[in-house]
Amino acid sequence: MTETLASHVVAQTVAFTVNGTPVSVRRDHPHLLSALRDELDITSPKDGCSPSGQCGCCTVLIDGKAIVSCQQPLTKVEGKSVLTLEGVDDDERDRFANAFAACGGLQCGFCIPGIVMRAKAQIDKKGAALKREDMARHLGAHLCRCTGYVKVLDAIEAVACGKSFAPELSGEVGGAGAKYEANELTLGDRGYIDDMRVPGMLHAALHLTDHARADVVAIDTSPALAAPGVQAVFTAADIPGELMVGILYKDWPVMIPIGGRTSYAGDVIAIVVAETREQARAAATLVDVTYDVQTPITDPAAAVADDAEIAVWGTKSNVLSVSEYARGNVDDALAASAFTVHETFTTQRIEHAFLEPESTLAVPAADGSLQVYSGGQGVWDDRNDIARMLNLDNSQVTVTLVSNGGAFGGKEDMCNQAHTALAAWWMKRPVKCTISREESLRMHAKRHPITLEYWAGCDGDGKLTALRVRALGDSGAYASVGMKVLERAAGHASGPYHVPTIDVRAVAARTNNPICGAFRGFGANQAQFGMEGVLDRLAELVGISGWEIRKRNVIHPGQLWGPGQAMDDGCAGAEACLDAIKPMYDSARADGKAIGLGLGLKNSGLGNGFREVSRAVVRFLAEADADGRDIEVRHGWTEMGQGVHTVALQVAAQELRVDPNRIKVIVDTTRELGFGQTTGSRGTLMAAGSVQQACAVALAAGCATEIDYEGEHLVDWTHKIGDPEHPSPTIHAAFGYAAQLAIIDRESGAIEKMVAVHDVGKAVNPLLCEGQIEGSLHMGLGYALSEQFPHDPDTGFPTNTTLRSLGIIRPKDVPPMEVHIVEVPQPRSPYGIKGVGEIGLVPTAPAIAAALHELDGVWRHTLPMRPKATDSDD
Ligand code: FES
Ligand code: FES
Repeated sequence: MTETLASHVVAQTVAFTVNGTPVSVRRDHPHLLSALRDELDITSPKDGCSPSGQCGCCTVLIDGKAIVSCQQPLTKVEGKSVLTLEGVDDDERDRFANAFAACGGLQCGFCIPGIVMRAKAQIDKKGAALKREDMARHLGAHLCRCTGYVKVLDAIEAVACGKSFAPELSGEVGGAGAKYEANELTLGDRGYIDDMRVPGMLHAALHLTDHARADVVAIDTSPALAAPGVQAVFTAADIPGELMVGILYKDWPVMIPIGGRTSYAGDVIAIVVAETREQARAAATLVDVTYDVQTPITDPAAAVADDAEIAVWGTKSNVLSVSEYARGNVDDALAASAFTVHETFTTQRIEHAFLEPESTLAVPAADGSLQVYSGGQGVWDDRNDIARMLNLDNSQVTVTLVSNGGAFGGKEDMCNQAHTALAAWWMKRPVKCTISREESLRMHAKRHPITLEYWAGCDGDGKLTALRVRALGDSGAYASVGMKVLERAAGHASGPYHVPTIDVRAVAARTNNPICGAFRGFGANQAQFGMEGVLDRLAELVGISGWEIRKRNVIHPGQLWGPGQAMDDGCAGAEACLDAIKPMYDSARADGKAIGLGLGLKNSGLGNGFREVSRAVVRFLAEADADGRDIEVRHGWTEMGQGVHTVALQVAAQELRVDPNRIKVIVDTTRELGFGQTTGSRGTLMAAGSVQQACAVALAAGCATEIDYEGEHLVDWTHKIGDPEHPSPTIHAAFGYAAQLAIIDRESGAIEKMVAVHDVGKAVNPLLCEGQIEGSLHMGLGYALSEQFPHDPDTGFPTNTTLRSLGIIRPKDVPPMEVHIVEVPQPRSPYGIKGVGEIGLVPTAPAIAAALHELDGVWRHTLPMRPKATDSDD
């Protein structure tokens, strides 16, 4: 009897060694990653896609071999030796951390611990003989959405060669110092939300709809409630306050109630709370929903043509927005033009593919208040909507930002923040909810697919005479910021050029397809794929080069830009980029390469009449924290890899003339610094301005301890697009500019090199700035050639539900990149900063399209483009 019991107990566990220590874990974990993270609390291996094994973030060494642990059943690990970054020798940890920090080899950092383990395995094997191209091939098992891999490979090469570094934070604006928290991020020690553990914590999982458009007739939670470990199941009926949330329009239901109607594949029906994540996820599948299924409206043109059938529950029209403006008589100008072009361009929906799936932790306090840890891009918007939903005062909800593992716009809308907060509030216990990769792909907003019809004319010298644009974007179900994306597409429709007559109209459609919203470039990418395309076609008709036609039309200070804005001296950056790229352009041409050039602009800041305020607080502590930091700098912008914390730190260190190691950067809602989303490349500019002011206030007051010194940066001089009261409206306060060159080898047809020249106004940290541009180029190559996120027109559901199916370019296929930074200061901007994130990939697809045309004579008009032309490209 005793023997039987003993063997039964043994059968329930698996024994192996982790970091030199024998362990015994429950056998029922779905994979090794789960045992490491959920039972052993070893969190350096990150979970980006378990159990699909497609991101590499969970890589560990098993008996010295690099293995993705989410694909490893525990039975295969029995008796083996597992090594994670926690168990790597201290000197070696330092070598990796220092190399990644010094080389700028990380941004959000989520992918890096897994990459370090893969690199370690290779370096252990090959040492200094490890070749860069071989390492790139091995990184094929990994995804990094931030860096473009250039600096990742630099760092690995440096470690392999035994190079040593002593990276330091920089204390000045313009200093290429290490990223704030670079070492901790590299080693997986700086926790993301899913790495956080709180005593008594429960786990929540969501039940998503089965249909993109269906009436919810009944919800039976009893099978889920009866499942092992389940503590509670909540539905819309449990929401004490407002059901609807949303950044600009409150049209997004936290959950669909009985009697309500679903509107897209990511709608939530119920939240299941259980003792473990596995139990919660298993039970969430058991919620039984009765639907009356409706035909989804998935064609955006049909949706806006007829409002008889409304796509989205609770709305009155399928037209989300119309953005339009006009100057001069376009018909006459086109008729009088020496050359004209008429072309329709189609761009695709794509997915952000940030590596960290959305995660939220909510912790209730005894006084009824709630502490929410969010990775969202606007903690004040999160706070306000959570408080409305719970019928609480804003003061009862504090949202603290936990720097996230990438966002690129995809974490602007709340995802599971409200659900987690609701569960914790009812349970009176901490609740964490981390969604799966598939749920993440279904739930958050994407880049808009936009169809753009362009008519353009020029005179015999290639000077633009007229432009007409009609654009239709599929915004999916809920508003998110879709109307603003189409507004930006309209505003940027003419690119960085002067066009004397113009007529633009852009419509955002509501459908039952995946929601579209903010994504790096925010409508400017789509529009400038069209504008650059017609410019290249006109250049061919005139008989001049792509560079020449851009030079003849580029916007100059004082000239009117598309929507009528009289451009300031900052716009000289466009021509500066063009001039700076000319030698590379000429040299590639002289070498007989097929080349293409793109020139773009992108606003920094929201503009369009918004009163934009950024506030920051500087506080000197009476006592330093455990890390010796005694100056707190609070700002309001989300750190998502782009380096805004580093910007805040470098500005504060310079202005206060202090050692940057004394500074701790914080974002939370304990101070009323709230001003919306970290979007539109405004974080750097606005954070720098407000921190600079806070420092000035502190210095003027003598920098006493335990006092908040607050500074503010205000932009309140912009106007609405198409506002009849402002015939020459200042739509935006600042723009970034970039020229990119694609060089294709005529023999192989492969992209041989990408050259990027970016005017950022002022690079606060040139190392991080360059890394942002490389990451943008990588993303732009995918946008141009391989990425898409289509939906099934019959169901409205996305058809690509794994990371691998998104078409993201793998490291070995990334061509060499050459980055040049230009600094033409932006008037009225702190330090002349213009921003770098948004403009990143605006010129990439147009440059590649032009180079492909040089290669085979075929114009492309559809993204993603085929490197080899087919009939549909004609
Ligand atoms: S979490 Fe294992 S490969 Fe993505
Ligand atoms: S640094 Fe690689 S995904 Fe962000």
